[in-house]
Amino acid sequence: MLEGSPLVLPLGAGRVVVRRPAVGDEDALVRLFISPEVRRYLGGGLEVGVARKRAERMTAVPSGDFVIVSAMDGAVLGSGDVRRKRGPWEFSYQLLPQFWGRGLASDAVRAVVVAFHAVKPDDVLIAVTQDGNHRSRALLEGLGAVPDGTFEEYGAAQRRYVLRRGDVSAADAGRSGHPPVTVRLATSSDVDAAGELTEQVYRVGGWAGEAYARELRDARTRMRQALLYVAVLDRQVVGTVTLALPGTRLAEIARDHESEVRMLAVAEHVRGRGVGTLLLAVCEARSREAGLTGVVLSTETDMHAAHRLYHRRGYRRAYERDWRVADFDMLVYHRPIPSR
Ligand SMILES: CC(C)(COP(=O)(O)OP(=O)(O)OC[C@H]1O[C@@H](n2cnc3c(N)ncnc32)[C@H](O)[C@@H]1OP(=O)(O)O)[C@@H](O)C(=O)NCCC(=O)NCCS
Repeated sequence: MLEGSPLVLPLGAGRVVVRRPAVGDEDALVRLFISPEVRRYLGGGLEVGVARKRAERMTAVPSGDFVIVSAMDGAVLGSGDVRRKRGPWEFSYQLLPQFWGRGLASDAVRAVVVAFHAVKPDDVLIAVTQDGNHRSRALLEGLGAVPDGTFEEYGAAQRRYVLRRGDVSAADAGRSGHPPVTVRLATSSDVDAAGELTEQVYRVGGWAGEAYARELRDARTRMRQALLYVAVLDRQVVGTVTLALPGTRLAEIARDHESEVRMLAVAEHVRGRGVGTLLLAVCEARSREAGLTGVVLSTETDMHAAHRLYHRRGYRRAYERDWRVADFDMLVYHRPIPSR
């Protein structure tokens, strides 16, 4: 749980991941805070020293803050927060100008809103934006936020938007038009679907003997012993992955400061749409939040689609760590987590 906010991070959405700020994010945050374009409706760009202090405070104690990063390469694109500022829970968001106009903020905001309502079904979430901030208003209205009056603050007319449960759907592509896949921690209502999907994908691929099939199906145990993520599309679980932190039960080969990705599976009918990419991006973001320096995983020799995915994301073979289980050769891949 994000301290001071009800969001459970990280979250994946479309082409972005929303995670807690971590040490190393400061330079990107400073660029955001000093930008006169980003802060046009927030009182103007901050002075560099003030911006750096604010950025350092955010990475040291991220109370309610989040950063929006690219699912492709982990670059920090923006930031935001969810807090109680004037009564109800309220969120804000900002993206560096070079990433405007691509629907990336919509991806992030949709995930935040849907995740909020999953945890706090009875609360409303509000957003306040200057009346003159047409770009922000278009984003909120495109997502289904309902205008709820104006008021005067900081010498300008402010417009309040309300988002009730159901106003924004995870299944709604919004203005971005991109497949609105969301990745989040599994809950007790989707854990069984995650287990069934994993078993089925591995069985069809020929990677599951009877004993391993039972283990793959048992997502409840994985949810207790590790972090079990699900990819959700149109309210269906279409992908899942397990992330084991170092020293935990399901970490088979991870060393200190490494996390281990396990049992990655995407339903056949949605492959090639970035679901596997987003699942991995969320695992990497969680590892980054935890201050780890690398991610490892074991894969079988004929998991060719997976090998391409790992390569594309900067995973490299760690030949010296290859191992065998029963009669299967396991190939080990490793990816360092850069701290900036
Ligand atoms: C490996 C696996 C998880 C990949 O899932 P996926 O959702 O298809 O992965 P992605 O969509 O992110 O990437 C797959 C391909 O789609 C392409 N792609 C991704 N997003 C895309 C988009 N928006 N538009 C067009 N193409 C896209 C990628 O470039 C990639 O191309 P490639 O096949 O040439 O490498 C899936 O194939 C699977 O479940 N395999 C069986 C189980 C398995 O091997 N698990 C790994 C265990 S170690």
